[in-house]
Amino acid sequence: MQIDILTLFPHMFDGFLEESIIKRAIEKGLVKINIIDFREFSTLNNHQVDDTPYGGGAGMVLRCEPLVAAIESVRKEDTLVCLMCPQGKKYTEKKAMDLATKKHIVLVCGHYEGFDERIRSFVDEEISIGDYILTGGEIPAMAISDSVIRLLPGVIREESRSFDSFMNGLLDYPTYTKPREFRGLEVPEILLSGDHKKIEEWREKEAEKKTKEKRKDLL
Ligand SMILES: C[S@@+](CC[C@H](N)C(=O)[O-])C[C@H]1O[C@@H](n2cnc3c(N)ncnc32)[C@H](O)[C@@H]1O
Repeated sequence: MQIDILTLFPHMFDGFLEESIIKRAIEKGLVKINIIDFREFSTLNNHQVDDTPYGGGAGMVLRCEPLVAAIESVRKEDTLVCLMCPQGKKYTEKKAMDLATKKHIVLVCGHYEGFDERIRSFVDEEISIGDYILTGGEIPAMAISDSVIRLLPGVIREESRSFDSFMNGLLDYPTYTKPREFRGLEVPEILLSGDHKKIEEWREKEAEKKTKEKRKDLL
């Protein structure tokens, strides 16, 4: 899979690409990530990419030309271009699973006051990571890339994510590690029993209980 990220702040991705699971996925060739500075596509003096809004108002608005030129430079026949936008459809694990089946996705990061409205005619989808406003689309692009990459075959073992929250409509079951007792809080006895069938049943029940308590809307 290839992910191209269009941004004005390429260095924000340095840590993201150079640590842990994402780094290993890149090294193993399971994903290719290109960080593209769309300022380079501006033909204006000083590579200007934004301007004041028509009609007045606060802040700067990203111009269409450099963004569209950057999108067109990477778009292929099977590309899906997604605009990072708080007005977009809310991102979910289901959407991550859908994106993980694509060959090539492009994530477009806004900044400042946002985009010239006409940019919407040049993208395929708009994605929001939640009902709050960030300073730019870089964190949403990282969140989306991370959640997609961990689903790609070979990135992490399938069994270690098969019970993750949202994978089967439930939250994950409770997990514990050593020590057996921490400040008076004990590990449930069943997990120490060695009876794998009973442990499995307990985990199923606990996942349902947790989901009912915390996220009834999922049931
Ligand atoms: C300060 S925001 C602009 C918000 C815009 N004025 C609005 O209210 O819709 C700048 C950029 O950050 C990104 N962004 C901010 N919050 C986001 C969110 N919740 N989901 C996805 N992208 C977001 C978008 O790319 C957006 O264009």
